[in-house]
Formats: sequence, structure tokens, C-alpha cells
Amino acid sequence: MRRSSEPLIAETQIQAAVTRLAAEISERYRNCDTLVMVVVLKGGTIFASDLMRRISLPLAVEYIRAKSYDGIDSLGDVLLPVLPEQPLRGKSVLVIEDILDTGRTTSAIMKTLNEHDPASLELCVLLDKPSRRVVPVDAQYIGITIEDRFVVGYGLDHDERYRNLPEIYTLEEE
Ligand code: XMP
Ligand code: MG
Repeated sequence: MRRSSEPLIAETQIQAAVTRLAAEISERYRNCDTLVMVVVLKGGTIFASDLMRRISLPLAVEYIRAKSYDGIDSLGDVLLPVLPEQPLRGKSVLVIEDILDTGRTTSAIMKTLNEHDPASLELCVLLDKPSRRVVPVDAQYIGITIEDRFVVGYGLDHDERYRNLPEIYTLEEE
């Protein structure tokens, strides 16, 4: 498999979506002094680093890593081997993800973080593939909705490749 020669989503389109999301988030959290961005490793890091630099509010950044148990198809069976360092209790928590697909991992992440008793818990995703949804998930901030294609670039990988590309490509047979 390799990436398509032409991007599916150009860098300008990604950056416009990031700017719009940053404005929405800035408006929503403007009176909040305890915003904690929880970035889901590894795919969310590129998006989050662009996004947070366009939010001129005081905020803290935490990272989590999610791993699904292979072969187990039930909700909530997600390990979080990297957890936030600071307590989330009473904080306004915003989860940053690269892409919302079946919703399995994301809903389990939200459920686990909710057990930390945050004051509020919202989700921001750069990409959404609604046609793939198996588990319902509420994302309050969505960058770009796409068809059911496997995509790489701008944080998204195939076997750890392509994360560094500034555009988003589809994956194709060689
Ligand atoms: P859910 O739980 O929504 O999982 O099924 C979302 C996670 O699945 C990965 N994913 C992708 N990674 N290109 C990728 O590089 C894709 O098109 C894609 N679709 C889903 C990703 O890790 C995301 O966090
Ligand atoms: Mg991946």
C-alpha cells in the first residue's frame, strides 16, 4: 500500500478547518481558567500542536495513549497505558483526536476520562467518517467529514509512515 499521488485534503483546507475549530473552542472556553487539552497519541499530536497555538486562552496539555484489546469487540475494553499526569477532577477537559471512525476507541476513552470527574468533557476531532460509526459518539467540534477511505498524513499513519505529511492522502494498492 502507498499514499495517493494527489492529496485528498490540501494543506490550506486543513489549516482553514484548524483555524475555525480554534475559534469555536476559544469562544466556548473563554470564561474558563482550567481548560485541559487531552491529546490522544500518536495521531492527534500534529493537529493538536497547530490547534493549541491558535487558542489564546490559558490551557494545560496532557497526552494519553489508547490501546484496544485485540479481538474483543465490546465497548470499554480499552487500555490507557499513558494517563494524564494531573488530576482532571473539576477541570474542563477537551479531548483531541485525529479521526473518528467506528467510535469504539473514542467512546471508551471518553468513558474512562469521565470517571475522573471532570467539570466538563468534550471532544474535538479533525476528521470524521460518520458512515463507519458502530458506537454513537458526540463530537462537539468536527474539522472535516470524509467518506469511508483510509487516510494518511498530518498525524495519521500507515505502519507508522506518513505522519509528517502536511496534507492528507488516501491509501492505495501499489
Ligand atoms: P474508532 O474507535 O473511532 O478509532 O474506530 C479511531 C482510531 O482509528 C484509527 N483510524 C485511522 N487511522 N487512517 C489512520 O491512519 C484512517 O483512515 C483511520 N481510521 C481510523 C485512528 O488511530 C483513530 O484514532
Ligand atoms: Mg494508526
